[in-house]
Amino acid sequence: MSEKFNIQIEKLNIEAIDLLNKCENEEAFEDWRVNFLGRRGKISLLLKEIPNLPVEERGNAGSKANESKKMLQDLYDTKIEKSSAPNSSDKIDHFDVTLPSRHLPKGSYHPTTKVVREISDAFYNMGFQIIDGPEVEQDTYNFQKLNIPVHHPARDMWNSLWIDKLSDSGETPLLLRTHTSPMQIRILEKHNPPIRVLVPGKAYRYEATDATHEWQFFQIEGLVIDENITFANLKGTLEEFAQRIFGKTRKARFRCDFFPFVEPGAEMSIDCFKCEGSGCRVCGESGWIEILGAGMVHPEVLKGVGYDPNKYSGFAFGMGAERIAMLKHGIDDIRNFYSNDLRFLNQFSY
Ligand code: DAH
Repeated sequence: MSEKFNIQIEKLNIEAIDLLNKCENEEAFEDWRVNFLGRRGKISLLLKEIPNLPVEERGNAGSKANESKKMLQDLYDTKIEKSSAPNSSDKIDHFDVTLPSRHLPKGSYHPTTKVVREISDAFYNMGFQIIDGPEVEQDTYNFQKLNIPVHHPARDMWNSLWIDKLSDSGETPLLLRTHTSPMQIRILEKHNPPIRVLVPGKAYRYEATDATHEWQFFQIEGLVIDENITFANLKGTLEEFAQRIFGKTRKARFRCDFFPFVEPGAEMSIDCFKCEGSGCRVCGESGWIEILGAGMVHPEVLKGVGYDPNKYSGFAFGMGAERIAMLKHGIDDIRNFYSNDLRFLNQFSY
């Protein structure tokens, strides 16, 4: 008998909770309350059956029925409270769906970030690994191991922001890296060939700013080392990169240039994507635009990190990310990149 009573209570609970969840308006809540918790409701009817149970079962059954009553009353109270809160679902009727939505200001990536990602993607898809490196660098890495000894005039190519001076103890002084090339050495020291890496990162120079010079900027360094790497690999890779970024029909031109850590060294230009080579403002009427420096890694650099230059060879390249962004978007002043002017930055929130 008591078992039967328990089952009855369980069934009642399930039914009551189910119906309560389906109530959508005040009227339905009230009907539910009368049906389950009212004076002649289902719980009261159950309570009335208790005196018919055997004496020893009455106590248990009574407390079960009262527990159920309390639980249902609590549930009902919370539901009622929620439904009368200002954001309750029954207020949805009052939304005017024709009202214009509120304008949410949209953020966007910085144009340099965008171009760095685009270039990184292009190289990543050609099998390059993307690596990060320190912006505070040692003289050894920034210069000496790149074949630029202390007091060598080639240092004049990079006006440096020193963090401390050459010490008598022979400790190598620190500076803000003037280019991303020191990462070539760090990578060669840590990894074994075949190496194919791309290092995007900040570089700093002690420089007066003007339309084409900033004291802080982004560079993108590349390094490939393996057996049998030739200048043809350099040309093929960089031409492919230029076509991926500036258009499939781009032609590349390589001319001799000097960088102490490569031999031979070169500058790479592409035919102007604006005028297709006929001469315009973007290419300074020459039909060609210089986009990066490159070369075959100098045998002295390879030897310095313990590689046999007769076995391994490779090429390196470096470019300014802002310069590429300026060319792509027709920006004529590099200072725009660091002046935080929203009128400039918002133009890239496409
Ligand atoms: N580090 C050079 C600079 O800042 C750019 C460069 C030139 C990087 C030739 C290279 C390279 O890796 O091979 O001017």
